[in-house]
Amino acid sequence: MTATTTKTSHDLARESFNRCNRSDGFFDTFYTILKSSNADIAAMFLKTDFTKQNGLLRVALELMLMFERDGDAARQALAKTRQSHNQDGLNIRPELYDVWLDCLMEACAVHDTEFDTQTEEAWREVLLPSINYLRSGYREGFGDAECMSYLRSIDPNLETVAKAWCQLPVSVRTEIVSKATRNT
Ligand code: HEM
Repeated sequence: MTATTTKTSHDLARESFNRCNRSDGFFDTFYTILKSSNADIAAMFLKTDFTKQNGLLRVALELMLMFERDGDAARQALAKTRQSHNQDGLNIRPELYDVWLDCLMEACAVHDTEFDTQTEEAWREVLLPSINYLRSGYREGFGDAECMSYLRSIDPNLETVAKAWCQLPVSVRTEIVSKATRNT
């Protein structure tokens, strides 16, 4: 008698990703679908080197798949992407991550020969925590991309100082300002 094992959502998403990776053009299909979903999104990728981008996304997806089992390491490795996508960087609004996930599922449906409703549910369940981690970084930026690029154009250090200042709790900022005004 053979023992039957029930596959976890993680197993199902992992196996689907392996099949997609073995199928030529998976990442190209994904970015074609993502760009055609919305003209604003297409405009974001006008200058992208997709040979490089496809490789970076492959690595990011690997990290997202390990998010549940090794959250701290995955968070650390995804921290730069979280920051680059925030409102001072690529300015990827949180709701765009839902579009991104729908497009990824469409690309999986094309490249994974065993793709079905259960596989899709597994992917969505497994990716959600890391997607929420990435999109929750949106407001951690300074919040004014124009102002940041102005400061950067004067002196790159000004941008760093402004970002550090904005990350301080309001109570600390108020205290510093009141000390500084007392001393003037
Ligand atoms: C969980 C979702 C996402 C993941 C894992 C992801 C991953 C990445 C990675 C690894 C890069 C390379 C540079 C970096 O790490 O900062 C990148 C760049 C980029 N991503 Fe994302 N991304 C996600 C969501 C989105 C969404 C929703 C959009 C817009 C709709 C977007 C637009 C871009 C753009 C415009 C670039 C720059 C491409 C270039 O260099 O020209 N990303 N992304």
